[in-house]
Amino acid sequence: MRVKTGIVGLDELIGGGFRKNTINVILGAAGTGKTIFSLQFLITGIKNGEKGIYISFDLGEKEIIETASSLGWNEVEDYIKNGDLLIKNYYAETITLLNSELVSFVESNIKGEDSRVVIDSLTPLIAPLSYESRKDVNWFFSKFRELTTTLITVEEPLNGDLSLPHVSIPIFLGDSVIYLKNVGYGEAFNRTLKIIKFRASEHAEGIFPYKILPKLGIVVEGTYKTERTPTLKELLEKKIISKESIPKWIFEKVK
Ligand SMILES: Nc1ncnc2c1ncn2[C@@H]1O[C@H](COP(=O)(O)OP(=O)(O)O)[C@@H](O)[C@H]1O
Ligand SMILES: [Mg+2]
Repeated sequence: MRVKTGIVGLDELIGGGFRKNTINVILGAAGTGKTIFSLQFLITGIKNGEKGIYISFDLGEKEIIETASSLGWNEVEDYIKNGDLLIKNYYAETITLLNSELVSFVESNIKGEDSRVVIDSLTPLIAPLSYESRKDVNWFFSKFRELTTTLITVEEPLNGDLSLPHVSIPIFLGDSVIYLKNVGYGEAFNRTLKIIKFRASEHAEGIFPYKILPKLGIVVEGTYKTERTPTLKELLEKKIISKESIPKWIFEKVK
């Protein structure tokens, strides 16, 4: 059983989705789309009858609704209202690292097995940690694995040094790691995605361009063997998206 990310083109690259009860890391600099990825992951679950918990250290409920609406995901507000999506906003200063508070919060709010949790981002929680603290992160990850399938985002350091403890520890301990990059090579390869780890599973190798599009969110182009965004016609033909899920005005933009 795979937990579908719902991101166009990605599930095909990772054998159908994340494995259940795993910790999945999205690594990337600011602006690469980690928050959008997180929202897509949660929305996909909710559309599938699951619940979502979004733990945020920078965005409040209002900002999350705004981000979602800017992409045309107006349903997010309703999800919050009717309890399918629970937003928990922490201020980094007020949380004492990886204590059990966060674990208990999720434990008491998780609605059965079919839930998804996002921590966006883990960086403020672990930035002060040294490499010796990896056993605390290990404890934290194993708690979340017991509870559900979890997505965490990690900020890429400004200097790109992935060996810094607050980056290397989640990479080392996570079950999968997807690296989002904004390389600025020009149109086709401006944004790239690389699967740098996928424990106990086959995954596609290579660097895949992706785009951020209204309504569709992140669209990975790897499965199309082209350097362009799949056309709407292709997405519909391959039944990756349904016609009903796209408002008419989007057709013009994506075509
Ligand atoms: N409505 C939109 N249409 C297309 N791209 C968008 C839209 N909204 C945001 N983006 C792009 O998404 C990026 C921000 O994504 P976000 O998930 O907030 O990044 P991160 O969480 O990694 O900092 C920006 O680079 C912006 O270009
Ligand atoms: Mg973000």
